Amino acid sequence: MDEALFEVALKQKTGEVQTIISDILSGYLKEKEEPYVQTILDAMEYSFLAGGKRLRPLLMRETYRLFDQNLEGKETLGTFMTALEMIHTYSLVHDDLPAMDNDEYRRGKETTWKVYGDGMAVLAGDALMNSAFEIAFREIDDLMEEGRTQAEIGRAAKCGVILSRKAGIDGMLGGQVADVEAEKKHLPMDLQKILFIHEKKTAALIETAMGIGAELAGASKEEYEKVVEIARKVGIAFQIQDDVLDVIGDSAELGKHVGSDAESGKETFVTLRGLEISQREVKRLSDEAIELLGDLPGDHAFLEELIRHLIYRRK
Ligand code: IPE
Ligand code: IPE
Ligand code: MG
Ligand code: MG
Ligand code: MG
Repeated sequence: MDEALFEVALKQKTGEVQTIISDILSGYLKEKEEPYVQTILDAMEYSFLAGGKRLRPLLMRETYRLFDQNLEGKETLGTFMTALEMIHTYSLVHDDLPAMDNDEYRRGKETTWKVYGDGMAVLAGDALMNSAFEIAFREIDDLMEEGRTQAEIGRAAKCGVILSRKAGIDGMLGGQVADVEAEKKHLPMDLQKILFIHEKKTAALIETAMGIGAELAGASKEEYEKVVEIARKVGIAFQIQDDVLDVIGDSAELGKHVGSDAESGKETFVTLRGLEISQREVKRLSDEAIELLGDLPGDHAFLEELIRHLIYRRK
């Protein structure tokens, strides 16, 4: 796909994703309006609508499209796109807390704890996670109420399992535990441990994105497994690049502080292997992911270019 064409497509698709997820979030917050809880609603809106690349819901939607080209009226897809971005946002709100990475700048704005205080940021993170599961369960209930097919209801239920499992101890949360513990206790780091951390804290939610996209569109078990394998590679590469950008990135472009890892004496892929090998690894993993994409049905051109684009991303 031509670079200029890709940029136009990326902008358009990200805009569509942004509209879908922000409408669902805003509708949800509206339902909860009550003066005594207003602060947490504001904090949820502040962190969620702050911006961000919206990569996970975009990957979910584009993976769905490989198996089903008709995106009209796919409400379950919109719900899971929003639920995943809520979980990702909660992970960032907590990750930035003074007790964790102690960061003051995120998505081009002050972090949630800087604006609302640590206590309210903890609660806003909890609320984003809880609300993600509320909208997912409600979606499954709606499908049943509407008398949808067993297959359709079953697929949505399976997506609930994927989301909860990969956001939890087997996934993002588990990776954050190993990450925080290694840093705070100055535990020795090696390649095996850093790959575990990257696979769990970051790749697990990328796997959730692409895996749910495939599952909702009715992919076979083999196709689902292939999609998750691709997402794992993309996710590990994404976190290595995040570590690279923490060294050579531009704060204004990234919307978060550069040098945060070094300031806290954190061991990353870059401190272990150096910049050059890290960047080569990002490219190697991404090339492997692109190669595997060729085994899937549908039009891969956009997804392929998106993965390639992430290798050289500056934000
Ligand atoms: C940041 O994720 C946390 C990592 C897993 C590296 P993103 O780089 O996708 O952050 P946003 O959503 O664009 O803010
Ligand atoms: C965080 O990794 C991954 C999460 C699960 C939140 P980092 O701590 O490197 O992410 P940034 O650099 O703060 O976005
Ligand atoms: Mg962190
Ligand atoms: Mg961090
Ligand atoms: Mg980082």
